Amino acid sequence: MEHQGIRSNGIQGFGLGLRRQHYETILAERPAIDWFEILTENYLVPGGKPLHYLDRIRALYPMVMHGVSLSIGSSDPLDRAYLAEVRTLIERIQPAWLSDHLCWTGVGGVNLHDLLPLPYTEEALRHVVARVRQVQDFLGRQILLENVSSYLTYQISAMSEWEFLAAVASEADCLILLDINNIYVSAFNHGFDPLAYLEGIPVDRVRQFHLAGHLNLGTHIVDTHDHPVIDAVWSLYEEAVRRFGAIPTMIERDANIPELSELLAELEVARRHAAQAGAMAKQRQTA
Ligand SMILES: [Fe+2]
Repeated sequence: MEHQGIRSNGIQGFGLGLRRQHYETILAERPAIDWFEILTENYLVPGGKPLHYLDRIRALYPMVMHGVSLSIGSSDPLDRAYLAEVRTLIERIQPAWLSDHLCWTGVGGVNLHDLLPLPYTEEALRHVVARVRQVQDFLGRQILLENVSSYLTYQISAMSEWEFLAAVASEADCLILLDINNIYVSAFNHGFDPLAYLEGIPVDRVRQFHLAGHLNLGTHIVDTHDHPVIDAVWSLYEEAVRRFGAIPTMIERDANIPELSELLAELEVARRHAAQAGAMAKQRQTA
């Protein structure tokens, strides 16, 4: 394996999603977290408490930005007003990078408040590639696109999700945020092999990993982000570290948010799995 180094672009190690429930604890205790990921949309309104806390915490920790409103796959025009707000926030906190999702969230000006998958066709590929290029030109930097959890597929799809994501990254020259839990969830829901997904993603495009918990209803999994990471996702994470190296990793918790100490303990578990995978990769290399 040649990918043992940390390709950090200014950030490395293990982070958490910044949540308002933890603002005061972070400032008081300054926990040993390498970086925070912020939800872009929480900080677009000028003034007020969110930006007040953001500036104070940013003075202590590196940050990356993660958005949910880009709707890169929609047939609506790109929202330039939103992008201008994003650019202002970029200037304010100087994130190591920013990400959004490979999805569409609405059409005809209606926001469905869901991250919906695209049909994986040549036509959709051309459409998304052109829009990613427009966004990157507007922001003056590369963006990361994240694979979403999904509950439906399209009969019209002509390629796998990972082939589509890899093609978008290559043709638009953008980067990838690989959500390991989302791969597991979608593999369960649609019956594909999660290892085939990892194998289909180009190593040099992946800049960040997400981990999260979910709700398994037996027939399908709902990506709730309200539970700890399950063992099968930790195993898949180890496979990902073996393939992609020590990519900056974070845990997302968006509901049922526990004390910060509980998430710090879960982050330690992530460190252990990454170290275990790294050790195994080295053993293979020297064998
Ligand atoms: Fe994610």
